[in-house]
Amino acid sequence: MNGKSILLVVGGGIAACKIPALIRLLQKAGASVQCVLTHAGAEFVTPLALGALSRAPVRTGLFDLDDEAAMGHIQLSRAADLIVVAPATADLMAKMATGQASDLASTVLLATDKPVLIAPAMNVRMWQHPATRRNLATLLADGVHVVGPDEGEMACGEFGPGRMAEPEAIRDAAHRLLGADGPLSGRHVLVTSGPTHEPIDPVRYIANRSSGRQGAAIAAALAKLGARVSYITGPVAIADPAGVDVIRVQTAREMLAAVEAALPADAAVFAAAVADWRVDKAAACKIKKGKDGAPALAFAENPDILATIAALPAQRRPRLVVGFAAETDNVLANARTKRAAKGCDWLVANDVSGDVMGGASNQVTVLDDAGEDAWPEMSKTGVAERLAARIAEALGPA
Ligand code: CTP
Repeated sequence: MNGKSILLVVGGGIAACKIPALIRLLQKAGASVQCVLTHAGAEFVTPLALGALSRAPVRTGLFDLDDEAAMGHIQLSRAADLIVVAPATADLMAKMATGQASDLASTVLLATDKPVLIAPAMNVRMWQHPATRRNLATLLADGVHVVGPDEGEMACGEFGPGRMAEPEAIRDAAHRLLGADGPLSGRHVLVTSGPTHEPIDPVRYIANRSSGRQGAAIAAALAKLGARVSYITGPVAIADPAGVDVIRVQTAREMLAAVEAALPADAAVFAAAVADWRVDKAAACKIKKGKDGAPALAFAENPDILATIAALPAQRRPRLVVGFAAETDNVLANARTKRAAKGCDWLVANDVSGDVMGGASNQVTVLDDAGEDAWPEMSKTGVAERLAARIAEALGPA
C-alpha cells in the first residue's frame, strides 16, 4: 500500500475503539490515512486521538466553513485511493444504500467514484434484520466491498455475527483492493516460509534457525504487486506480512497438506526451511528422565514439499515453481544438482554459511533454464522485491 491514501470513515459504534489500531496497521503497510468522524463516532473515539495518530486533520462536519468553501467533501473523496468505512453501522449502511447526503460521511460516500470497503459492526439482530440484509445486497450490487462482520460475543452481551472484523483483516482487505491494479493482479501465488517444528513429545521439538524473514518479505512483495498470496508459515516470531492470507502450520506434513489445500496457484515459492526428518514416533506424553538414561530417537524422512508439487500433473502444477537452496559449501554446484533433483523451474541459491539465517541481508543466485543470474548482496526485502518482479514478468498479465 506504499504511497496510497485511505480515507477512513469512522461510524458510531463501540468498535470505533479499535480504529486507532487500524490506523497504525494501515500506516505500517505504507498507506497514509485521513479520517472523517461521524458525530456518533465522536462519542466513542475523539477527533484528537484520530488526528494525532493519522497526523492529519479529522473532519467531522459538513458545514465546516473553511473546508467547505474549498468544496472539502469533494476533495476528500477525490484525494483518496480507497475509502474504508469502519465501523460501518446499520445507519451508515442504510444511508449509503439509499444515497443520502445528510452529513459529511454520507456526502463523501455519495460523492466518490473510488473503491469503498465497509466493515459492518452492529448488534446481531440489527445485522440479521431484513432491512439491513436489503441494504447489504444493494451495496454489494453497487460494487461496495465488505469485510466481516465476525461472529462472537458482542458488547451488548449477545452472541452471533455483528462484531467488526479485526483491524488486521480490514488492513488485509484494503491491501487486496489497493493492489488490484498491480502486474500480478488476478494471480494466486503460494509462499512457504519459516522453519517447521517436528515434535519429540508434547513439550519438545526439533527446529532450525530459519526466522522466516525472507519468505515473509517475498509474500509481502508479491501482494504489493497485486497477487493474492497464500502465505504458509511454520512457527516464526516475526509479524505477518501485509495483505496476505496467513496459514499457520507446525510440521512438514502439515505444511504439505496446507500447500495442497491452497492449490491451484499460478506460482509457488518454497522459501521454508523444512525439517528433512521427523521423530518417527513422537511420544504422546512427556518423556521422563529416568533410569534408562538418554532416550534414543528414531527418525523418519519428511515429504519433500517442493519436489511433490513440482511433480504434479500439468493441470494441477503451478506454472512457475520456485525453490530455494540453503547451502553452506559448493553453493552453485549443489544448487544445480538440487534444481534437477527437485524439478523446479527456478532455484534461488543462497549461502547460509554466515548469518543469513535470521539476518537481514542475503546474496542469491537464481538458476533457471536460461542460466545463472547472480544478484549482488542486498536486504531480504530487496531480494523479495526483485524476485516478485521477476515472477510478474515470467507470468505476464492474467
Ligand atoms: N523443501 C521442501 N520440503 C522438504 C525439504 C525442502 O519443500 N522436506 C524445499 C525448501 O523449501 C527449499 C528447497 O526444498 O525450497 C531446498 O531446501 P534445502 O533445505 O536447501 O534442501 P534439502 O532438500 O533439505 O536438501 P539438503 O538438506 O540435503 O541440502
